[in-house]
Amino acid sequence: MSDTSRIQCPALRQRVMSAEDAAALIPNGATVGMSGFTGAGYPKAIPQALARRIEGINQNGGRFRINVWTGASTAPELDGALAEVDGIEMRLPFQTDPICRNRINNGEMDYVDYHLSEVSQYAWSGFLGKMDLAIIEVAGIREDGSLIPSSSIGNNKTWIEQADKVILEVNSQQNIKLEGMHDIYYGTALPPNRKPIQLTQPADRIGDQYLRCPIEKVIAVVETNAADRNTPFKEPDDVSRRIAQHILDFFDREIAAGRLPKDLLPIQSGVGNIPNAVLEGLDSGPYKNLTAFTEVIQDGMLKMLRSDTLAVASSTAFSLSPAGIKEFDDNIDIYRDKIILRQQDISNHPELIRRLGIIAMNGLIEADIYGNVNSTHIMGTRMMNGIGGSGDFARNAYLSIFVTPSVAKDGAISSIVPMVSHVDHTEHDVKIIVTEQGLADLRGLSPRKRAHAIINNCAHPDYRAELTSYFERACASGRGMHTPHLLGEALSWHQKYEETGSMKA
Ligand code: COA
Repeated sequence: MSDTSRIQCPALRQRVMSAEDAAALIPNGATVGMSGFTGAGYPKAIPQALARRIEGINQNGGRFRINVWTGASTAPELDGALAEVDGIEMRLPFQTDPICRNRINNGEMDYVDYHLSEVSQYAWSGFLGKMDLAIIEVAGIREDGSLIPSSSIGNNKTWIEQADKVILEVNSQQNIKLEGMHDIYYGTALPPNRKPIQLTQPADRIGDQYLRCPIEKVIAVVETNAADRNTPFKEPDDVSRRIAQHILDFFDREIAAGRLPKDLLPIQSGVGNIPNAVLEGLDSGPYKNLTAFTEVIQDGMLKMLRSDTLAVASSTAFSLSPAGIKEFDDNIDIYRDKIILRQQDISNHPELIRRLGIIAMNGLIEADIYGNVNSTHIMGTRMMNGIGGSGDFARNAYLSIFVTPSVAKDGAISSIVPMVSHVDHTEHDVKIIVTEQGLADLRGLSPRKRAHAIINNCAHPDYRAELTSYFERACASGRGMHTPHLLGEALSWHQKYEETGSMKA
């Protein structure tokens, strides 16, 4: 017998059906808004059932594709399953799935890579077209039909409001004690009707605990019992520990100089092993009662909340390892008062990020000697993941820090290059670059001084002489001394890698 105790609304209990029956309600060509952000809170059964349906249609010579909009990345059960059967026509705004990535880079799937804070206003503004259906995972349905969100909120509020019809997945594996941790703000509007958002501290609550959803919109409810994607973190290695240490030393210097308060400013940390190592480093330092205003809570932040290094974390999603999920579930009563989950147009809101004075820490693929950063494209053409929230935070942060190992692919690629092959964050938005070699503080430096700082502090020794040679020859050319470049050579490092498999001379 199915467990319907999480579906308290009698009318919606009547609409419980199998994932296959729900998937059959999705028409070919539909635009579907799905829940899900960094592998948390995405629908798990219906996308797989839909993928099986599409496979059958394709085998019979048909073609069935949908447009998939989410909060951010999902998991193999959603992006992977649908991409595998070539079922996605257009995908936005962020993804990390390897099968999807191949489809995108082979030109078989359109991908629109947006700043995560902006997606909901674009959906509202109408130029993206109509949303036919929303498929949203929830932790439960209350008697009045309001929804208890699960482990991410992302764009769920907007999808429910925008879609003609809604399908709910009620996942009984989501901890029911998540109830009350969410804060859904119902005050957003399109210009010219916007009002200031009354959030002045990461801990502020400005909205409702539940998602509102008109009962008549809900055409199906599917019960699931499945875990979120949970990728184990690697133990911090020497490179990530050294990067973390450079950042901690920098914070010490800024506090000593009176430029940062002792309890820092609210932190934002991207996902990945290096940001996680930085969080671990902060946790082992002297800090207490820090705050986080970020988009993802990963293992390192849980540890900081547990040890009171962090007093509160505002986010839109979790992204935990299996150990992190267990820690969270076992101790949810400790975390309940310290974590607030918001929709992504609030967690990543540029105005709030600017006002709160965030310290943003994000990863990069490559940076150039003048401080432009590429976070998305391999060798200028192949999409890795997407810009995610990095642009929301980097441009508006009080301090924007980018981190990377100084080399990739066993040293065959330098992360510091003469000119980036694609730009996501311009020299105007990038304040600090850190590799295991050191930290370049670019604040207040003109382009040529930035080049000295980046080459000497961040580049790997194997590439330093060549970068210096490029810079000196560009300066000697006497053309354009503000940002000296040799245009014929600026991208030759990438060319060399494509031709020989190494950027080395
Ligand atoms: N050229 C080619 N490949 C490179 C490279 C370069 N300059 N730098 C890294 N890579 C490769 C790595 O070798 C690795 O490849 P693999 O998967 O085949 O092993 C891959 O890119 C990821 O590199 P890694 O060093 O493990 O970095 P990461 O996991 O910390 O990710 C980004 C770095 C930039 C891809 C990641 O931070 C990202 O997607 N950023 C954009 C979104 C974002 O910042 N969100 C933040 C808010 S949550």
